[in-house]
Amino acid sequence: MSSHGRRPIIIDTDPGQDDAVAILFALGASDRLDLRAITTVAGNVPLSLTAKNARIVLGWANRTDIPVYAGCPRPLVREPVTAEHVHGETGLAGVPLEEPKVELANGHAVDFLIKALVNAWPTTITLCLLGPMTNLAAALVQEPKIRRGIKEVVLMGGGYHVKGNVTPTAEFNVYADPEAAAVVFGSGIPIVVLPLDVTHQALSTKERVSRLEDLGNRAGGLIAAILRSQGLIESKQMATDGGPLHDPTVIAYLLQPSLFSGRMVNVTVETRGEFTLGETVVDWRGVTNRAANALWLNQVDSNSFYELLTDTVKRLP
Ligand code: BDR
Ligand code: CA
Repeated sequence: MSSHGRRPIIIDTDPGQDDAVAILFALGASDRLDLRAITTVAGNVPLSLTAKNARIVLGWANRTDIPVYAGCPRPLVREPVTAEHVHGETGLAGVPLEEPKVELANGHAVDFLIKALVNAWPTTITLCLLGPMTNLAAALVQEPKIRRGIKEVVLMGGGYHVKGNVTPTAEFNVYADPEAAAVVFGSGIPIVVLPLDVTHQALSTKERVSRLEDLGNRAGGLIAAILRSQGLIESKQMATDGGPLHDPTVIAYLLQPSLFSGRMVNVTVETRGEFTLGETVVDWRGVTNRAANALWLNQVDSNSFYELLTDTVKRLP
């Protein structure tokens, strides 16, 4: 910890509707989380839009003091995969968008990460990964010394009990850059995973979304509009009241880890499978001799999660 007991974090993200909610969630908890910067990556929509959307979201919370660095415009090896069918052409379907009030910070996100993490020591920074893991993978390859500045990586990605959302076996963030995910899971850095197993328990039901809207502030209204729009496809696929909420579970874990449970496991990433590219291969039962490399969460107290989200968002404009 530093900054008067606040936990230093960097959010690496591809906003993206649920990414936007996660950023607002973190900003609402600024008494506990010290958001040092946002780094953006190509994912849900191309990099030019994710870099723009991150700044729009900061503007919603009057926090344009936080720098946004644009990172990798494409995955390490493969062609880009995007998700406009979920997040809309802008990446933030469901809400009106204005031009960002601030420019991007100078320099590439990967260079920023390297500098910030190497120089952080003896402080360590928590990295929150909400999109394809390209930026961190590139930083690890370019400067392995960044490990010393990382407290842990807390990421949304993968699935085991709930397998895939973009293919039958792969979750979007891992599928969009499987080689990058393989670098991150192979890095030896402490990793906490919020997979589909957890996010599919956190449904944005009508009642939960109404509670956010009833806060009466701008952030609550925007989040309610985003969640109503985002839930559509997935709630239809699964015939549920509301869609799963993904990226904000990362922030909830930082604020209240006791809401979640799981186990230490070995996770590897399928980078060659004909039908299973991007699958997270989780040794849940311990049937291999591979050492555990991640805390894999598989349960969340979903009512308390939405209460925490709502109580935190209440503090924003
Ligand atoms: C993940 O994929 C993206 O579309 C969401 O923003 C989230 O990070 C869920 O699979
Ligand atoms: Ca995301």
